[in-house]
Amino acid sequence: MIEINYPAVSDTSPLPAGSCLLEGFPAPCAIVIMGASGDLTARKIMPSLFSLYKKKLLPDPCLILGCARTAYSDDEFRTVMKKALFASSKDAEGWEEFASRLYYRQIFYDDLSSYEGLATGLSELEKKAGTAGRRIFYLAVPPSLYESIALMLGEAGLSREPEGGDVWTRIVVEKPFGRDIETARHLDAALHKHFAEHQIFRIDHYLAKETVQNVLILRFANAIFEPIWNRRYVDNVSITAAESLGVGHRAGYYEEAGVLRDMFQNHMMQLLSLTAMDPPSQFDADTVRDEKVRVYRSLRPFPVDDLENHLIVGQYKAGVIDGNKVPGYREERGVSPDSLTPTFAAMKVFIDNWRWQGVPFYLTSGKSLAKKLTEIRIQFKEVPHSMLRSIIGEHITANTLTIGISPEEKITLSFQTKNPGMRICLRSADMEFCYEGSGKTPSGDAYEKVLMDVMLGDQMLFWRQDGVELCWSFLTPIIAECEACSGRAEMLRFYEAGSKGPGGFRQISETAGTLSSFSDYRGVRLT
Ligand code: BG6
Repeated sequence: MIEINYPAVSDTSPLPAGSCLLEGFPAPCAIVIMGASGDLTARKIMPSLFSLYKKKLLPDPCLILGCARTAYSDDEFRTVMKKALFASSKDAEGWEEFASRLYYRQIFYDDLSSYEGLATGLSELEKKAGTAGRRIFYLAVPPSLYESIALMLGEAGLSREPEGGDVWTRIVVEKPFGRDIETARHLDAALHKHFAEHQIFRIDHYLAKETVQNVLILRFANAIFEPIWNRRYVDNVSITAAESLGVGHRAGYYEEAGVLRDMFQNHMMQLLSLTAMDPPSQFDADTVRDEKVRVYRSLRPFPVDDLENHLIVGQYKAGVIDGNKVPGYREERGVSPDSLTPTFAAMKVFIDNWRWQGVPFYLTSGKSLAKKLTEIRIQFKEVPHSMLRSIIGEHITANTLTIGISPEEKITLSFQTKNPGMRICLRSADMEFCYEGSGKTPSGDAYEKVLMDVMLGDQMLFWRQDGVELCWSFLTPIIAECEACSGRAEMLRFYEAGSKGPGGFRQISETAGTLSSFSDYRGVRLT
């Protein structure tokens, strides 16, 4: 491996060492969490808010109001949150002061009078706290409740924004945005009944990951990549989101969703567009999202009449991960014993434009695989002519550029070098930028970034409805065909938990250059 010395930031940047473009500081606001007694609040939202508070990034004053059906007093809510956050650690320093900003109000999601009570109660709290009427409604509830909550908030007058001035109201929803194109449009219409587009923040937590954002910087803040980022030099692109975890306690949701809705309609499509988009003319929310949308528009309609050559779907059986026996999907609690829900999918897609014509993009995601690995891998073409063909044969391993997102956040360029010695032998070498070794590791959960951006009103990292609909338009026929086709059971390939997925012994990278159909696909690259 080649070592790189990282210059201090001030050596390369006109900005002072360690500084970044100032994004502003959020104005005082109230954060109302719907679904405050649920899992998402305890696991992600509250820890992120507390972490922002400890980093002095929460506005002051800031008021956090939890709402849910459970009857808690303010103090009970504070205690429940404290237990959730510090179950395994005693480091609750700062909690009591933070918790003084927490309040709770019982709410019945389909009862208008409950929302009218909320409107009155919230105004009183705001007056006391001095948050000036700026409000965020975070819907940390099952997606089936989005529509009615958005409507009720509107009917109770809670979506209004006074004209002019700097008082705003925002609503945050998290994927899934519908379960097909029709339901996505329906949900959008419900949100828009009382909220304008600039008030709606559709979260995809992948976009808040440091390395995912770094794809844009790598591509467009360096002159060396863009000239070769196209069909002339790129052979294929693999985007992988492999997980070692199974569905766990989310079986109820997952049975209905499956991997195509759970990972492809959102995270995989975002990674695809970041990799394939044209350079935006400026770094603002709409310009960047316009370019992404152009990628979705250029997706070649999927050949649904030839699924077996373009799509693999699988489901995990019992197996062993990290030395522990794990159940098969059908044995998970809440899963039907003859479920046909896919927990793994690999698909080959094409983008029909000048840049990418003919370049396959392999998208792969699955649960209960051998390990967690999220990465984007650009495989370049082999050298056009090998001067070494008489010595080492026809092929020279092609260069790859790998953007590692998880577990390691790093960028690796692999290339050929001469193996030291008398004879001509090649060996691959890696040039690596690893956040960990750079002295500046990504800090904070993706949810911290998401919450910060909602407070700042920056929609860059959030889905715009046109993107959501285009992705659904692409995926809906695939999902419909998978779910309807008479050979649904035959399509599903079973794989052992802890393996590389269906097939599982040859890696995609070995065949990628010449892979013209999926019939010889042998599993995800997990090295
Ligand atoms: C979520 C999916 O959106 O992303 C989960 O619903 C999945 O099924 C998760 O496990 C993966 O996120 P990450 O950040 O762990 O890669």
